[in-house]
Amino acid sequence: RQILLLNGPNLNLLGQRDQSVYGAKTLQDIEQEVIRFLKRYDLEVETFQSNHEGELVDALQKASKSSSGVIFNPAGYTHTSVAIRDAVDAIDIPVIEVHLSNIHNRESFRSNSYIAPVADGQITGLGSNGYLAAALAMVKILEKGES
Ligand code: DQA
Repeated sequence: RQILLLNGPNLNLLGQRDQSVYGAKTLQDIEQEVIRFLKRYDLEVETFQSNHEGELVDALQKASKSSSGVIFNPAGYTHTSVAIRDAVDAIDIPVIEVHLSNIHNRESFRSNSYIAPVADGQITGLGSNGYLAAALAMVKILEKGES
């Protein structure tokens, strides 16, 4: 079985920018940690990052056919994208929303997520550990056959 680890705009810059907010790890570092973690549970990981809204919609639609779940940091689109929300809503595999920073203690526009109401859950403010928390939750959801 396969999990899609999906990251949105500007997360390709992790490790270079805003280290005080987003930490020192690169996206590749985080992807490797998730791959290593899920390997223990015999889950493969497909990774994809895009700065483009429609590509994220395409990736979600594709994942509903090829993956058992999605770990997703929609980044800036979290706070703006009805199209991405509708894609998450339309697919019937579990989707866990992750944010490195705590979106609830930053600018007020960040505290609203269009994605959260249609995601299985949201993990925010735990840095890169949030991805591992999401990975563990995904394992448990799939074990129980819950979505
Ligand atoms: C983010 C939080 C968003 O508000 C921001 O636009 C990002 C990253 C996070 O991981 O903390 O790009 O999703």
